[in-house]
Amino acid sequence: MAMAGAVVRMAMALGWCALAAAGGTGAKPEVTFSRDVAPIFYRNCVVCHHPNDVAPMSLVTYKDARPWAAAVREAVAKRTMPPWHADPSVGVFRNDARLAPADIATIEEWVKSGAKEGNPADLPPAPVFHDGWHMQPDVVLAIPPEQVASGAQDEYEYIYVPTGFTEDKWVQVAEVLPGDRRVVHHATVSVVSADAVPKSQANREKSAAGGNKYRYTTGKVQHLRPEVPVVDDGCADAGGGALPGEGQYVNRVPAIYLPGHLPEVRPPGYALKIPAGSYLQFQIHYSNRLGKTVTDRTAIGIQFAREPVTHEVAQYEIWNNLFLIPPGDGDHRVTSCFTLPKDVTAVAYTAHMHYRGKSMKTEAIYPDGRHEMLFSVPKYDFHWQETYFLERQFVLPKGTKLVTTAYFDNSVNNPLNPNPAKAIRWGEPSDEEMMGFWLAFSDVSPAGERASGGR
Ligand code: HEC
Repeated sequence: MAMAGAVVRMAMALGWCALAAAGGTGAKPEVTFSRDVAPIFYRNCVVCHHPNDVAPMSLVTYKDARPWAAAVREAVAKRTMPPWHADPSVGVFRNDARLAPADIATIEEWVKSGAKEGNPADLPPAPVFHDGWHMQPDVVLAIPPEQVASGAQDEYEYIYVPTGFTEDKWVQVAEVLPGDRRVVHHATVSVVSADAVPKSQANREKSAAGGNKYRYTTGKVQHLRPEVPVVDDGCADAGGGALPGEGQYVNRVPAIYLPGHLPEVRPPGYALKIPAGSYLQFQIHYSNRLGKTVTDRTAIGIQFAREPVTHEVAQYEIWNNLFLIPPGDGDHRVTSCFTLPKDVTAVAYTAHMHYRGKSMKTEAIYPDGRHEMLFSVPKYDFHWQETYFLERQFVLPKGTKLVTTAYFDNSVNNPLNPNPAKAIRWGEPSDEEMMGFWLAFSDVSPAGERASGGR
């Protein structure tokens, strides 16, 4: 929501109140579901609140929505719905889901006046969803059927799917759809070249067989070795907090599935390249507590660029992998630092932690010494890990230092904390931790090739 837009909407809300007061009772038309509330739900809510999707109830029809009227009023008044976790005073985002004050006022008025249906003929057409997708894919690439054994606790599977693309393709919109939401904890899909596949499989096997200097493996997950020196303040460390030798790296991720994550919708002209012949690596984190083996077929849906691509998007994954969160510590600070090796255009941000994550913010220190807060998630929630796409992309010059500060709550006061008595280090299982800030970026100079959309 742009600042100017916020001001205008605020004025509209105030105007509406003034009008209502001046008109007195009877002068203002009754607020109804069909005419006033359904358009708000269709625009802001039903993407999740339709049958068989992530939300516990549908808000599509009056019959579906009516029993939830009071709960809806409360959720929108407290702004717990729609979910949005970035501090609205830091950065302006294209996918900002927050309701305008006027919409909240409409819902309040609807509920206060008895949550009436009104005339069904006033209903706008309901949005259409396709087989679980929240976008309309041009292609769908799925993993082969994967058996997820009963009792599988925390397993990271790496599954490689050939794209079969015979020319370079440009991804504008993509979504990872879990085959079985009950066992897919998260999934990250990245683009890898055909010759990188055996290499990365060999690496994984080597690490399963004994790990390396820094990591060891139990079952199908990795952990940091306890003897690795602790670095909480990554900014005081030569590597910025990353594992020695690993560095902060560039990844090509068309989409991820994380709790509460909607499709990645890149701005017009910005797209991610899948070179001809590439594979997609599905890194899927499974946990099966259902008491029976199930078959999963997680898939990615891709919508190719419809217009010429001027900016190729990739992401820096900036980590502190060396922290230690003491048992019981309710406010443990961890930082990471990364200095941009070239001019880049900032496109989107993602904060990634596990259950003990409390807050994260990233500040830029520009080469001229100016500081600017870029991004802040003041109340991190593991169940809602959105990617925040900037309304206006902007240049971060070479030499800009990105300082990310996270706080973790390893105390008994954190209801999600799996075990406050444990000292926590980096680890793939959700009951260990991660501290990642991902910056989706493009090169400043337009991509050499101007793709035509690659369809
Ligand atoms: C990105 C997906 C998403 C969007 C968008 C969304 N919701 Fe939700 N909503 C959920 C999920 C998932 C839950 C259940 C988990 C939770 O409560 O956090 C939920 C829970 C709720 C609840 C609480 C139900 C209860 O058990 O009390 C209400 C009320 C609600 N949503 C209303 C709305 C309204 C109104 C909107 C739009 C203005 C909206 N939601 C937008 C996903 C979403």
